[in-house]
Amino acid sequence: MIDPQYRKDDGHQEIISLEGNKIKGIKSISQIDPKHFWSNCAKNLTWFKEWEQVLDWNPPFARWFLGGKLNAAYNCLDRHLISEKKNHAAIIWEGEDGQSVTITYNQLFYRVNKLANALKRLGIKKGDRITIYLPMIPELVISMLACARIGAIHSVIFSGFSSQSIIDRVNDAESRIIITADGGYRRGKIVQLKKIVDEAVKQTSTVEKVIVVKRTHEDIDINEKDIWFEDLVNKESNYCVSEWMESNDPLFILYTSGTTGKPKGVVHGSGGYLTHLFNSAKWVFNFVPTDVFFCTADIGWVTGHSYVVYAPLMHGVTEIIYEGAPDYPDQGQYWNIIEKHGATILYTTPTALRSYMRYGNDIPNSYDLSSLRLLGTVGEPINPEVWMWYFNTIGKNNCPIIDTWWQTETGGIMISMCTGIENIQMKPGSGTFSLPGIELEIVDDHGKKVEANKKGYLTVKEPWPGMLLSLWNNKERYEKTYWEKTRNSYFAGDFAYVDNDGYYWILGRADDILKVAGHRLGTIELESAFISHPSVAEAAVTSKKDEIKGETIIAFLVLRKGAELSSQLDIEVNEHIKNTVGPIASAEKIYFVNKLPKTRSGKIMRRLLRSIVNNETIGDITTLEDEASIEEITHELQEINKHL
Ligand code: WTA
Repeated sequence: MIDPQYRKDDGHQEIISLEGNKIKGIKSISQIDPKHFWSNCAKNLTWFKEWEQVLDWNPPFARWFLGGKLNAAYNCLDRHLISEKKNHAAIIWEGEDGQSVTITYNQLFYRVNKLANALKRLGIKKGDRITIYLPMIPELVISMLACARIGAIHSVIFSGFSSQSIIDRVNDAESRIIITADGGYRRGKIVQLKKIVDEAVKQTSTVEKVIVVKRTHEDIDINEKDIWFEDLVNKESNYCVSEWMESNDPLFILYTSGTTGKPKGVVHGSGGYLTHLFNSAKWVFNFVPTDVFFCTADIGWVTGHSYVVYAPLMHGVTEIIYEGAPDYPDQGQYWNIIEKHGATILYTTPTALRSYMRYGNDIPNSYDLSSLRLLGTVGEPINPEVWMWYFNTIGKNNCPIIDTWWQTETGGIMISMCTGIENIQMKPGSGTFSLPGIELEIVDDHGKKVEANKKGYLTVKEPWPGMLLSLWNNKERYEKTYWEKTRNSYFAGDFAYVDNDGYYWILGRADDILKVAGHRLGTIELESAFISHPSVAEAAVTSKKDEIKGETIIAFLVLRKGAELSSQLDIEVNEHIKNTVGPIASAEKIYFVNKLPKTRSGKIMRRLLRSIVNNETIGDITTLEDEASIEEITHELQEINKHL
């Protein structure tokens, strides 16, 4: 059934009449004339100047709404000030300690403006890069929107990453400013964010100022470049004019793991990205003004950028932002927050759900979850048992489940049931269908479409508005990573298949990227971190299936000549990983071996290691250089398993 709103608001009436009664849904409308379709979708945003051209497709570079001028912060804030939303809650922030703060759209507007003025006073101009390294506190949203308001490009770094990750990202983006906090809370403990930034700043040459938010109020070192956030914004006025950004000017860089040691700076613009977000949120979540949306993602990852910051604020809904971990202060924290604030939509990860399921039903059953109307998942495949548990125990058989597939690179949701368009039969574990305007295909190694039920690579055939503009400073890597393998279509890096009913099933990554508790990490990036330990000469990282986290990290290390194998070495090496990459990257198990399995051309055979650690059959090893390494690793694992 088509939502009648679409015909009126989005101008789809015109296209429907082209084909008379034959066209049933907006999906077919989007296929007949995608440019017209997306330009109607773009009209849901506020533009200062309309675009001259809907799409310039110069493969593999897509530029949407060329010549159009808009501002992302204006679309999230100013446009609500002339409606009844002005004094509605934009953010309900829940601290780890149970403290709640509500910020209205009007208040958020002023706070963003003040910081925008302060950044300008520090000499920041359109196109300058600002790194944001903050915990999940309102200042994180305020900082992103302040950058967007003045046209500065934000680069948010997840606050669970350590100093080396900051150094790499700040240097690649050549950021002029870092916005951080004295510290953050994690399960009641203080994470000394400022100290981590101080270490990083020593190894960067572009940072002029470090703006520090007071969160933990601890004593910290104050250096020459440091300024307190509060002192900076207090003297500024409440209004800062929005910069008119061309639709394809970069809005942000978000670094994500790839298949090399260096993270990729994914670049998104405003016009296409925000069009994709506004409309995907409308179709998938079917936002209504009374919604209280709870997306549990950390803003440091793309889900937080798209569906904590930009999409819900553009829609003017109320959203909950939670500072802490799902199991802190106790194992019912999400359910407590839902009851306390009357959340209507929960959008979370399979990892969080798997943990909650393990804690038992009594905990969620002791909370009033009746405000919920819709449940969502993102970031990893969800196993059917967990899906059923979510549906029965949390949704009480009343809430549809949307399993949304997408990526940092796609900007917004690509596959999901769209409750704002039609209700279809759900299949636990399948994301169902692609969104309107998104043309997918499953192909083989030669780029040829595979039949139903056959595994292949998931690709996107046509450009879509949320598509990344490029990789920061690295066009060649952009072309090579996403467009070389499957020719003429975007290579997502996931295996998938379509069943007889046309439903999509995602089967996991086809490359060397891991998803540990939903966090995206590159094996090669982790291996470089292991090798930076003085005792380690070579490293191979793979993953083992895990009941809670989906996957966990397993490392095989070869020691340097002369390095001594002590009983404490694995702990020491893991500490090193936590300090260089971050606690999320610590290995579940480290094995010290004499040789790594490599191909004759010297490539580590990680897939083979994965088969061994997961007790799966080892496939073709004809390209293996030295079969002895496999024997050694298998033997090693058997020995270890004997002692478990
Ligand atoms: C995986 C997260 C199965 C997939 C938004 C993808 C999923 C990668 C799903 C992107 C899902 C995301 N079912 N797998 N519903 N959603 N993935 O960039 O492997 O952090 O390529 O973006 O997560 O991870 P990223």
